[in-house]
Amino acid sequence: MDKFTYQSPTKIHFGEGQIAEIANDIPKDKKILVIYGGGSIKSNGVYEQVAAALTGFNWSEFSGIEPNPQYGTLMQAVAKVKAEGYDFLLAVGGGSVVDGTKFIAAAACYEGADPWEILHDQAPITAALPIGCVLTLPATGSETNGGAVVSRGHDKLFFGSALVKPTFAILDPQTTLSLSPRQVSNGVVDAFVHTMEQYLTFPVNAKVQDRFAEGLLLTLIEEGPKALATPDDIAVRANIMWSATQALNGLIGVGVPQDWATHMIGHELTGNYSIDHARTLSIVLPAVMQVCRKEKQAKLVQYAERVFGITTGTTDERIDAAIARTIAFFKEMDVPTSLADVELGTADIDVLVASLEKHGRTALGEHGKLTIADSRKILETAL
Ligand code: NZQ
Ligand code: ZN
Repeated sequence: MDKFTYQSPTKIHFGEGQIAEIANDIPKDKKILVIYGGGSIKSNGVYEQVAAALTGFNWSEFSGIEPNPQYGTLMQAVAKVKAEGYDFLLAVGGGSVVDGTKFIAAAACYEGADPWEILHDQAPITAALPIGCVLTLPATGSETNGGAVVSRGHDKLFFGSALVKPTFAILDPQTTLSLSPRQVSNGVVDAFVHTMEQYLTFPVNAKVQDRFAEGLLLTLIEEGPKALATPDDIAVRANIMWSATQALNGLIGVGVPQDWATHMIGHELTGNYSIDHARTLSIVLPAVMQVCRKEKQAKLVQYAERVFGITTGTTDERIDAAIARTIAFFKEMDVPTSLADVELGTADIDVLVASLEKHGRTALGEHGKLTIADSRKILETAL
C-alpha cells in the first residue's frame, strides 16, 4: 500500500427528515443561493423541505442546471452570484447539480482570465465559495468528494479541488423514491464502476481497501435489482445511497492504484452522443476488462472469487466467467453493454478516438500505458 493523506471534511446527515439539519449547518449571516436542476425537487417535496429549513435565512435560487451540466448555464449562475453577492451555495439535486455548484463556487472566486481554464487547463484553484448539498440521486459520490465534470459542446472535462468538497451533505433515501427506473439503474451502475476503477487494477496488499470495495460491489449487486423490482423499499434505497457515497468519497482509493480508463472513454460517449454517464460505463467496462485482462489478471481472479464465488477453472476461464457475470449484472440493471445497444458502430469509433486524442486522453489506466490504439481496441471490443 502506498502512503497517503486522507481528509473528508463533509459532515453527513443520513436518513429521513435530515433536510431540516440545513438550518444548523449554514451560518445565519450567509447569503445563500439554492441551486437545482430541471424541477424534480418541485414535484417530490424536496423543495418544500429545503424552503422550510431555510426559514429566516437570506436566500434566493438558481434553477435549470442540466444533466451533464453545461458551462454556459453555470456561468449565468456565476454572474448572479457576483452581481447579488451570495456567499454560500446550496446544491439540491443529483450529481449534475452538485458538480455544477462546485464549478460555480470555484469560478466565482477565480482570478485568472477565464474560468474555462479551470477545466481546460486544470488551472489551480486558490479559493471557492462554501457549498452544502441535498443529494437526491445516489450515483456519483459528488456529495462528499472534490471532483466535478462540466460540459461545453462536445468537451466533457473534469476538475478537482479539496476546496469544493461540500461542508455538509444531506442523504435522505426518501428523496430517491421519485427517481425513474432509468435513473435508479444509472446510479447503481455508476457507483459499481467507481468501485471497480479503484479496485480492478493490480494488488498492493491493501486489504482494507480491497475488502471494503468488495463489500460495496456485493451490496450493489444484491440491492440494485431489488430497487427496480420493489421500488418502494426504503431499506434498499438506503443501502444503495450509502454505497454510492462510499464508492467515491476517496476512502477505497487511498494508497492504491486507480484506473479511470472506463470513465475517460465514457466521457467521450457522453460528449459526442449524449449517452447517460452510467450507460457509457456499462458499455466500456466489460471491454476494458477483456482488453486489459493480462495487466489486471490477479485482481480479476480475486474479483471472480470474492464477488462471484468463482473458484474453479483455469485463470482464463475464471476471468471469462467474471466478465460474463459483470455483463449479466448490467443487463439485470437494464443498461446497455455494447455500442450496438446504443446504435453506434465502427464509423463512430473514429469520432470517439479523435475526441480522446483532442482531450489528451492518450495515456490511460492504472499504468498510464493505454495508448490511443489501446482505446480503439477497447471500443472495437465493445462493438
Ligand atoms: O434536473 P432534475 O429535474 O432534478 O432531474 C434530474 C435529471 O434529469 C433527475 N433527478 C435527480 N434526482 C431526482 C430526479 N428525478 C426524480 N427524483 C429525484 N429524486 O435525474 C436526472 C439525472 O440527474 P443527474 O444529476 O444528471 O444524474 P447523476 O447524479 O447521475 O449525475 C451525473 C453527472 O455527474 C457526473 C457525470 O459525468 C454527469 O455529468 N459525475 C460526477 C462525478 C463526481 N463529481 O465525482 C463522478 C462521476 O463519475 C460522474 O462523472
Ligand atoms: Zn461515474
